[in-house]
Amino acid sequence: MKASFNINNSVSELELNPNETLLNALRNNGFTEVKCGCNEGECGACLVLLKDKPVNSCQVLAMSVQNKKIKTVKGIGTLHNPNLIQKIFASTGADQCGFCSPGMVVAAYSLLKENSSPSNEEIVEALDGNLCRCTGYVKIIEAVKRSAIILQENKVEAE
Ligand code: FES
Ligand code: FES
Repeated sequence: MKASFNINNSVSELELNPNETLLNALRNNGFTEVKCGCNEGECGACLVLLKDKPVNSCQVLAMSVQNKKIKTVKGIGTLHNPNLIQKIFASTGADQCGFCSPGMVVAAYSLLKENSSPSNEEIVEALDGNLCRCTGYVKIIEAVKRSAIILQENKVEAE
């Protein structure tokens, strides 16, 4: 069946099964920037924003969010037009294999939209659901901190 979804501020017609997860529906229709790690709600690789709140898309039934606002990491920024957070992740060395990075960026973006000056603890808490097997998290936390500082210096939101 086909159904329309509001993804990254555009209406997208997705081909999907009625019982499919949002993660599968997205990936099967070209939104492969959303990664599948565990498929069990444990790793955060599949994180997207649903009505501006972070959710693990592997735990959401696609048809239940048909008319709701969905944002993937590409709605935050792309390779050719990266968001400041993505630029700082790259320049800080916060990604190695990069598999966790889409979910990490979504979590960081969501945090900085809500809290422009997070403490270390608040950053750790915001990234708590996102697993990384490569970096040891130090560079990731540093990248979020640097993003917050630069956003404040420039007095802009994490757009
Ligand atoms: S793939 Fe969804 S939380 Fe791991
Ligand atoms: S950079 Fe490889 S899993 Fe995080």
